[in-house]
Amino acid sequence: MTTALYPGSFDPITFGHIDVIGRAATLFDKLVVGVLINPRKSPMLDLEQRIEVIREAIGDELPDIAARIDVSGFDGLTVDFATRIGADFIVRGLRAVSDFESELQMAHTNRKLAPAIDTIFLMTALEHAYLSSSLVKEIALFGGDVSRMVPDAVTRRLGEASGRTIDR
Ligand code: PNS
Repeated sequence: MTTALYPGSFDPITFGHIDVIGRAATLFDKLVVGVLINPRKSPMLDLEQRIEVIREAIGDELPDIAARIDVSGFDGLTVDFATRIGADFIVRGLRAVSDFESELQMAHTNRKLAPAIDTIFLMTALEHAYLSSSLVKEIALFGGDVSRMVPDAVTRRLGEASGRTIDR
């Protein structure tokens, strides 16, 4: 049985993330979406909210494979969490060449830290390649329409949270 970890901030989850989750879940027996608790950032949605909306979004958008996808918060190193859950792979999405440099560095570093865990990259679907969580946050903050960029669960939650400060 192969398990993969898809780590990220997911503040908030976008259709780009959903695309990667859906495709990764068909490649592995089990996929864990790991939501980072980052003490250096104050996210727009707190950890519990992010986990909740990700679960809702997966249930709505990927109902056929939702049973094989877990969502869990973690802090510390991604490789330590991956080891704890028995993950063989880390999954990351690549939108454009600009993502590549930092992702390459992260993949090499993670492999140095945990040689048994490899990183697999999926190219985010073209129609979502322009999307980023930080742009979504900014648009939502200024009252713009993000409904075509994020699952419904997020649109609802961002509406409730739009009065708060954003952290980019
Ligand atoms: O969604 P993001 O913000 O691009 O995800 C980045 C993430 C969470 C994958 C990365 O920051 C991370 O792995 N953080 C945990 C701490 C860690 O393991 N750092 C070393 C990475 S080489």
